[in-house]
Amino acid sequence: MTHDDVIRLEDHYDSGLYPKQPLVLVRGAGARLWDADGKEYIDCIGGHGVANVGHANPAVIQAVTEQAQRLMVCPNGFYNDQRAQLLAALIRSAPAGLERAFLCNSGTEAVEAALKFARVSTGRTKVLAAMRGFHGRTFGALSATWRKQYREPFEPLVPGFEFVPYNQLDRMGQALDEETAAVLLEVVQGEGGVIPGDGDYLRGVQALCRERGALFVVDEVQTGFGRTGRMFASEHHDLQPDLMCLAKAMAGGLPVGAVLIGSRVADLPKKSHGTTFGGNPLVCAAALATLHYIQAEALPQRAATLGARLLDGLGAIPSPQVRQVRGLGLMVAVELKVRAAGYLAALAERGVLALSAGPNVIRFLPPLVISAEEVDAVLEQVAAVLEV
Ligand SMILES: Cc1ncc(COP(=O)(O)O)c(C=O)c1O
Repeated sequence: MTHDDVIRLEDHYDSGLYPKQPLVLVRGAGARLWDADGKEYIDCIGGHGVANVGHANPAVIQAVTEQAQRLMVCPNGFYNDQRAQLLAALIRSAPAGLERAFLCNSGTEAVEAALKFARVSTGRTKVLAAMRGFHGRTFGALSATWRKQYREPFEPLVPGFEFVPYNQLDRMGQALDEETAAVLLEVVQGEGGVIPGDGDYLRGVQALCRERGALFVVDEVQTGFGRTGRMFASEHHDLQPDLMCLAKAMAGGLPVGAVLIGSRVADLPKKSHGTTFGGNPLVCAAALATLHYIQAEALPQRAATLGARLLDGLGAIPSPQVRQVRGLGLMVAVELKVRAAGYLAALAERGVLALSAGPNVIRFLPPLVISAEEVDAVLEQVAAVLEV
């Protein structure tokens, strides 16, 4: 199939929900991607922060290949070796206080499950979420998602959700009361524009939750698995969430999600929640290999070092178009005074794929295996498009 054939076919039969760039991506390795015409790109999208261990990671390929030949499906009513090992490995890698895990298939499902667990555990219904926050597209997660464009076409949403400004502890203090089941926050707001949470604010919210009997739910779907320079972004601020939502990078590219559950969460009633595919052996084997790789290759430290290189380099670009450069680890953004779309297209032309986070923000979420030379090549191209 030619490049044009693929675009025609996909445009004809796809739902039409996604605005698309006219690129047909067919192959990846490490932090590189290739299109159908053989053109090479440095990938700073990473499947939207999924490909932390790199495209076509050999350890993940081997784990998936071996497990596919052994067993792909095992209902949650039975035990499985891969699942048991993954659950243990996840909890060992997580912040203190998280003791058990529920496995599912995506970020929105993890958030959905955490919201249900918070309600059933506290017997309360109110949920506080942050302005500019993003948590997913299913009804519960969408009800906690800020942007009107995502919410309004589908109202009425789930009742009981309220939004408070991010990084303002006094406003959280006013809203959090005896009816609040949960506060749901990102440690760095991703889709909202790459806005790092303040440590004092996040610890303050956690303390308020403890004081008033609510559960502190942290959404690490985008920040998890080394992205911000620590295995989980919660570690930057010594947070001990009651529920932690994970997905994206967890299984080296395969669909996955998880909720880690802390000791303040009551025992969950049997059969009150569940999923067919969650915890299937194939994805568990991929996730186990991914987790081992991230730890063995010290990818969080790598994200910290190369993230600082990217952040400093972007900050040094002398462009009147730049309002602010910010980020944590390899979750980095350039906020422009103008729209980002034209710059993203110009970067793609020059062999660098980056993404937006709102209309004015260029966001970088490269695989954590990206090399220093590749980071420098990205900086060179960003400078070339921004300096004109
Ligand atoms: C912080 C956060 N939570 C939840 C989600 C939803 O994840 P998914 O697209 O896997 O449903 C995303 C997706 O970008 C996210 O960034």
